[in-house]
Amino acid sequence: MSAPPTGIRSGGRGYFVTFEGIEGTGKTTQLDRLARRLRGTGADVVVTREPGGTALGRELRTLLLRPSAEPMSPFAELLLYVTDRAQHLTEVVEPALERGAIVLCDRYKEATLAYQGYGRGLGVERVHDLHRHPPLDRVPDRTVVLELDPVESVARASRRNEETNVAATEGRFEQEKLEFHRRVLAGYRALAADDPERIRIVDASGEPEEVERRVLDAVRDLFPALRDEP
Ligand code: TYD
Repeated sequence: MSAPPTGIRSGGRGYFVTFEGIEGTGKTTQLDRLARRLRGTGADVVVTREPGGTALGRELRTLLLRPSAEPMSPFAELLLYVTDRAQHLTEVVEPALERGAIVLCDRYKEATLAYQGYGRGLGVERVHDLHRHPPLDRVPDRTVVLELDPVESVARASRRNEETNVAATEGRFEQEKLEFHRRVLAGYRALAADDPERIRIVDASGEPEEVERRVLDAVRDLFPALRDEP
């Protein structure tokens, strides 16, 4: 097992836990469930996301996810995700960790490694290169990757986008071919294989309650006060 390439800075006073996975795996639902449980233990919990965790990020999110006739170059796309992250770390994540909060973030650097590095084929080194300096060298204490068969999860995500009327504004990745989502998933698996202590693959199939129990098992060592019962 090789050391994570940019495992420079973790720790601090709070905890930083990120949720990842291809679209439609239910990560937002699971993140909210974990937040509720952690708040039940009296913890100060901040729920946030990338892209779009700040005012600047929400503008970038619109640019990034709007289906468009003109393709964005993969490198331009990479830089916009990293721009969103730099602002988000400075404005939201670091201040919360500094005061000792638990920050639960819907997607983070592993998404960029998986989507831009593997999915778009830019390679992981280009992504790591952009994260070598503060604030971008922040490493999560734990990364939970929810895993589901791409055929099932992408269909779920498209259905959700239609139902919530965001398909026209946020449908860009759902339009990608299945092959793209398979590459992203293979990317997440490779990242987890390189750093299995921090990056945990969690089976996202079955009822939300079952998945929630698996998520709890993946973070319990960080938060011993968490209990199994609802
Ligand atoms: P998200 O809002 O989590 O979408 P979903 O709920 O559909 O999974 O993320 C938006 C999209 O942005 C998602 O398709 C993945 C993509 N993304 C990247 O390609 N690179 C990144 O670095 C991040 C953070 C997200």
